[in-house]
Amino acid sequence: MKVAMTGASGFLGPALVQRLLERGHEVHVLARNVERALKGLPPGVTGSFFDAATPLSPDALGGAEAVVHLAGEPVAQRWTERARQRIRDSRVVGTRLLVEAMRAAGTVKHFVSASAIGIYGSDRGAEPLTENSSPGEDFLAQVCRAWEAEALEAAAEGIRTVVPRIGVVLHPEGGALKQMLPAFRWGVGGRMGSGKQYMSWVHRDDTVGLLLFALERPELRGPINVTAPEPVTNADFSRALGAALKRPAVLPVPSLALKAVLGEMSEVVLGGQRVLPRQAQEAGYHFQYPELPGALRALLE
Ligand SMILES: NC(=O)c1ccc[n+]([C@@H]2O[C@H](COP(=O)([O-])OP(=O)(O)OC[C@H]3O[C@@H](n4cnc5c(N)ncnc54)[C@H](OP(=O)(O)O)[C@@H]3O)[C@@H](O)[C@H]2O)c1
Repeated sequence: MKVAMTGASGFLGPALVQRLLERGHEVHVLARNVERALKGLPPGVTGSFFDAATPLSPDALGGAEAVVHLAGEPVAQRWTERARQRIRDSRVVGTRLLVEAMRAAGTVKHFVSASAIGIYGSDRGAEPLTENSSPGEDFLAQVCRAWEAEALEAAAEGIRTVVPRIGVVLHPEGGALKQMLPAFRWGVGGRMGSGKQYMSWVHRDDTVGLLLFALERPELRGPINVTAPEPVTNADFSRALGAALKRPAVLPVPSLALKAVLGEMSEVVLGGQRVLPRQAQEAGYHFQYPELPGALRALLE
């Protein structure tokens, strides 16, 4: 089928485009800089302009039957007032504009719109969290709630809508692992803060696998946690990463230092969530990397 996709130029996007093409789908990207986005993608992919702030013409969807929406301002930056606005608006307004175009186009039957495990809040300790758990109240939780609410407007139009709540995606090319690797490779890595906070990690291949699963399984709708079945504490993660790299990982990063450098954004790394992929497992998704040591070995080989 023809799939229109935002965020194709990002960290997850190119890997998903590759898998979509391998599975025989046609891909049409919606990007702020179409030429730049297409440069990093295989031939045959087409594109239209979308900046998550300007109303989108229904024609820009190119007659797509499905839409995958991954665009959003990066969260891993200091949360100044302007950054907060970009993080919120790029998701909430962007999703609203996309849904308006889908409604007018009338061709879209399946909608997969990214969300994040940040919806559960960053102060949940060791509480096991499933898709039925209550949401949190902090900044990211509020952004995710508003972002999901806009996406679910498509469901009211009869469009099957899935909101994958993505965890900490692991791959050396981007995200958290790319940030952590230099210190751990130098042997100066270690737990962050107390190390007791949970990290609900997921290998990038399983992230892409679950996004495809959400797209292709007609029985799925609503929230689906995109995390591995065995979340670990930050201290255990640090030990596993050190072991995978054969380096010591015994130098903790104090909470105060993280707060000084990252400001309020430090709550993302000093807090955490213990998220379980209940919907995915009940629907029969087979994880390629269910356990951390195997995932890290494969990623760092
Ligand atoms: N990576 C993770 O660990 C993780 C975890 C939880 C949730 N997620 C969510 O999953 C989605 C995809 O993740 P990702 O890591 O692939 O994201 P990413 O690489 O940071 O960004 C994806 C794309 O968003 C678009 N974008 C960036 N800033 C924007 C802005 N201010 N306004 C409009 N568009 C903007 C860009 O596309 P163009 O320049 O082509 O328009 C970019 O390529 C994101 O919504 C992210 O929040 C990711």
